[in-house]
Amino acid sequence: MHCKFKNKSALFVGQPTFPTDFLIGTATSAFQIEGAWQTEGKGESIWDRFCHTTKKIGDGTNGDVACDHYHKYLDDVELLSTLGFQTYRFSLSWARIMPEGTGKVNMQGIAYYANLLDALHKAGITPFVTLYHWDLPQALQDKGGWANRDCANWFLEFVEQVNFHLGAKINNWITFNEIFVNCVAGQFLGIHAPGRYNIWAYYQSLHNQLRAHGLAAQYLKRSNANNQVGITVDLRPIYPLDELNPYDHQAVEFADLTMRRMILDPILRGYYPQAHLDRIKMFFPAIEANDMNIINSPIDFIGINNYSRDRVKYSPWFIGHKFWPEYQAKAPEKEYELNNVQYTSMGWEVYPEGLYELLMLLKDEYNNPKVFITENGAAFTDHIVNDQVDDIKRVEFFNAYLHQVSRAIKAGSNCAGYFAWSLLDNFEWHEGFKKRFGLVYVDHQTQQRTIKQSGYWFKSLLQTHKQNIMQNESKSKPLTVEQNGTRGSNVVY
Ligand code: FCB
Repeated sequence: MHCKFKNKSALFVGQPTFPTDFLIGTATSAFQIEGAWQTEGKGESIWDRFCHTTKKIGDGTNGDVACDHYHKYLDDVELLSTLGFQTYRFSLSWARIMPEGTGKVNMQGIAYYANLLDALHKAGITPFVTLYHWDLPQALQDKGGWANRDCANWFLEFVEQVNFHLGAKINNWITFNEIFVNCVAGQFLGIHAPGRYNIWAYYQSLHNQLRAHGLAAQYLKRSNANNQVGITVDLRPIYPLDELNPYDHQAVEFADLTMRRMILDPILRGYYPQAHLDRIKMFFPAIEANDMNIINSPIDFIGINNYSRDRVKYSPWFIGHKFWPEYQAKAPEKEYELNNVQYTSMGWEVYPEGLYELLMLLKDEYNNPKVFITENGAAFTDHIVNDQVDDIKRVEFFNAYLHQVSRAIKAGSNCAGYFAWSLLDNFEWHEGFKKRFGLVYVDHQTQQRTIKQSGYWFKSLLQTHKQNIMQNESKSKPLTVEQNGTRGSNVVY
């Protein structure tokens, strides 16, 4: 069961293969790459405020400049083209489009995203647009943010404006990125913006983000029959830290309810798991008539972000939750190997089978919805030597995880695409710039970009994938008279 990463990758000789309609892309988010935090009318977001006023960013940096993607977006689209990606997932900065969160629209922000979308279309790259990747306008936080029930309607107003101004250029929509991580890290653990330690705010925000997701999904489906709408959830298989400890097995159940079922069950089944509600009901906001129907609105796909698995131990300290993930106990400066298992520089175990397990779980327990892997990747320490970055561990990581995706599809998973996290080394939230996830190395002093070996690995994977697509197309086309060989004996095909 346990994956020995080095051995595992050796098991998979050669590139993974995928059905010809499978999409391969890469992903980013606005705050992590754009910079230009006050440029051309952008308003302040909670992440701007958090970086500027707390000491919670590991390396003391902020997102003011980030990868300067706001000014370099054409170069970055060029990089996507060079690497051959078919699709690109990115997010919109709400405060760039509506500086106060509601009301006035900043047309310079709209123009920026219109230009980015045009450049992608021109390059033949399909955009997947995330509407909320954690950077709430500060003006809305000042009114209570996600803990305020009205925030779902503020979000809907934002989505309506986006659709009005940019909708003609977007077909694939992701309402939210990782509601669980966003709420737990921002409202309960205090390590992400807005930096709260409040369990009531955590559950209010979770419920309100789910409502906001449902309202946006209904609206987008109504406004254009071609819209494909989904939501991205963070998922990880959960294991007991100590196989022999029955309390750790209980912790697995608590963790699964808290992290997976409290998000996926309402979206796909229309209810919160009662076993969890019973334990935390003193913290949960009132569920109003129709809330669950809205949250359960029809969608077209589920996005899965997966990096690792969790090993959890029982902990009596968290009222109602009673588990603690192992990796949070240690914060390694660098990646390491322990008992033949590779850990990334985030301290996350490399566990490729986990992605297979999750795809099977979606298939078996949620009626096999269409799934995109919307994030998967690894932070390792990188070095530029002679203008090259030989990030072999990252190549092994992608190779092993993508083989598991291919295996899952063969076993019946309805997985339609994969996005590597991330195109660029970027601002990794409370870690700052220390953790590098990019396929492209970014020197944050000069903004120089250097494609890593992992980028070239994707380029080669995409070349093969596109050849397969072309072969398939030529096979399925009816043969012309010439190709059939009935006329002209020298026709080669
Ligand atoms: C995910 C986030 C993404 C990135 C990766 C490493 O939880 O969605 O923005 O930071 O982790």
